[in-house]
Amino acid sequence: MPICCCCCCGNSSEESSKDADDAFAPNNPYPQPNSELVQDDNEWTPDSPRTNQQIFVALYDYEARVNDDLTIRAEERFMILDNSEQDWLYARSLRTNREGYVPRNYVAPEDSPEQEGWFSGKLSRADAEMRLLKTANEQGTYLIRESEREKGTYVLSLLEIDQGERVIVHYKIKKTSFTGFFISASLEFDDLQKLVQHYVDNDGLSCRLVRPCEQAEKPQPPFAKDVWEISRDALTFDKELGHGAFGQVFKGTWNGSTEVAIKTLKPGTMSPDEFLQEATIMKRLRHANLVSLYAVVSDEPICIVTELMPYGSLLEYLRERGQSTRYRDHLYMIIQIASGMEYIERENFIHRDVRAANVLVGNAQLCKVADFGLSRLINDELYQAREGAKFPVKWTAPESLTYARFTIKSDVWSFGVLMYEIVTRGRQPYPGIPNYEIVGKLLDGYRMPKPPQCSEEIYQIMRRCWHGKDTERPRFEELHSIFDRMASTRPGYEDAPTA
Ligand SMILES: Nc1ncnc2c1ncn2[C@@H]1O[C@H](COP(=O)(O)OP(=O)(O)O)[C@@H](O)[C@H]1O
Ligand SMILES: [Mg+2]
Repeated sequence: MPICCCCCCGNSSEESSKDADDAFAPNNPYPQPNSELVQDDNEWTPDSPRTNQQIFVALYDYEARVNDDLTIRAEERFMILDNSEQDWLYARSLRTNREGYVPRNYVAPEDSPEQEGWFSGKLSRADAEMRLLKTANEQGTYLIRESEREKGTYVLSLLEIDQGERVIVHYKIKKTSFTGFFISASLEFDDLQKLVQHYVDNDGLSCRLVRPCEQAEKPQPPFAKDVWEISRDALTFDKELGHGAFGQVFKGTWNGSTEVAIKTLKPGTMSPDEFLQEATIMKRLRHANLVSLYAVVSDEPICIVTELMPYGSLLEYLRERGQSTRYRDHLYMIIQIASGMEYIERENFIHRDVRAANVLVGNAQLCKVADFGLSRLINDELYQAREGAKFPVKWTAPESLTYARFTIKSDVWSFGVLMYEIVTRGRQPYPGIPNYEIVGKLLDGYRMPKPPQCSEEIYQIMRRCWHGKDTERPRFEELHSIFDRMASTRPGYEDAPTA
């Protein structure tokens, strides 16, 4: 199994100057970066387009869905007239002269790196490694990403194959005191394009840049602007995707054009007023690892309209396709969920129902946390006083089972159980133990033993999540950074002693 190690990894915050400097040891054959990184507030970053900012270029085709958006074609150029909306830009097409909104994630400033096939935007180190380590990739496959942790800082991630071992090398790209970039202090470039071209044509890195890494699929366009409470008539219910304890989920379309998932709740499941209040908060929560809430039908039967996730729940995914998943896949799933939960923690929200059935899967094992906050609203009788058949007893922290005390730290407990589901590829937790015995056993100090295929290291993290005292459990922020670090430096199950 390939272990990713490199000149500037070994720490998940490799993009910080310090880590990069530590990593560029004197005997390191790779370029030495200049330790004096000069900041320039006027530098171009993806969020502060430079002088020709008004001209944007379409990266993908997009079909108009409502009256005020434009159908656009890849490579079409636009003059931007208003960029005050979060997800949409108001633009005039230089091809048709028509004006309207275009999805912000479908266009990029002309001549900016975002236009290039090798530019991957904001991408975590773990995501970059997942993409580059695909077996079809050859030596020299590369991408440039914006650091997740340091805004406006770029990293070149490069696949090197050394005696059959696939290794990802991450180079921090530093900025000159003006507007240029460099990896090696002796070689400065006016822009990222020139830097890339140089290392395509010349040696100087661990290997030459050969081929840009294939990009993830076309992103989902944002949901229609200013649409929130919608009428049931605007939805078509095309196919049932599954059902949960309180209703069915359908694949459907909104307004005849936008593909969505529609979750219907049986009448009486929750109060429409309370639901609407909470949904307004949930709508604000936006993160790459959270399922986006698009719109609601707020009279009964309540419908929750969200983005559609093509592979359904992580639980089904693990059970049906899990046999081919390995340590790196599992770690990647765990990292993404920890990242989504870290965001929920930061926003002072509580999920209350963290489990593999509430994580949904997209292309390339993209994982997004779903159903945050919903369980609080479910009428208590339906949950049958917390021990009932519908209540997820085996995922719930002891203080929530006994005193109905729910905090982000009770989510951390559930996250530990979710880790168990992932490493066992979808096993039911506490096998053979009925729900009614769980709380007594937990209060007596019982915890699930280490599953045979799980490394001791991962198991010790689960045990920390299952600390009897909620304050002693790690925060999601800490969990996320532990897993990030593991992805860079630790051996996988295949290599780890399993005893
Ligand atoms: N946004 C979505 N995209 C695709 N499938 C979904 C989506 N939401 C839910 N599903 C499917 O519907 C099933 C039921 O979901 P849900 O009602 O949340 O029940 P539960 O979480 O209790 O399993 C899920 O297991 C999943 O297969
Ligand atoms: Mg669910």
